Amino acid sequence: MPWTWRTLSAGLSVTVSSAACTSGVPHPTALDAEAAAQRWPGATLAELDRGRSLFVARCSSCHPLPLPESVDAERWSEVVDDMAIPAHLDTESARLITRYLVVTAVRSGGLEVRP
Ligand code: HEC
Repeated sequence: MPWTWRTLSAGLSVTVSSAACTSGVPHPTALDAEAAAQRWPGATLAELDRGRSLFVARCSSCHPLPLPESVDAERWSEVVDDMAIPAHLDTESARLITRYLVVTAVRSGGLEVRP
């Protein structure tokens, strides 16, 4: 379905908790990198760090940065895909941001990613 403001508003809820500033945005750790590499072979800590930087830079202009755990881990991919259009993300950036958000959401107590 093509993205429109209407479908976004209908499908998404804005009642997510947000980080007042970037200090609340977790930095990826070696454990996160391990979890990422299990799910996406070849994923590295450096990639997760890039994902965090892109997230902070590209996702805070319209609304406060959402916390990773404010969205179920398994939904992040869908949410980032929706946001890719307004945020003008290329595929690679969207992939890095999604991986960063999924692993930090799981670690922070978000739902486990289903296989
Ligand atoms: C150009 C503006 C814009 C940018 C940039 C943007 N968003 Fe959004 N985002 C919105 C709007 C508008 C909504 C509210 C949609 C609604 O009506 O519920 C929203 C809602 C959200 C929500 C709540 C939706 C839900 O299902 O819980 C999340 C999470 C989110 N954005 C994450 C992101 C992420 C991650 C990025 C960076 C990749 C991003 N946003 C970049 C405009 C933007």
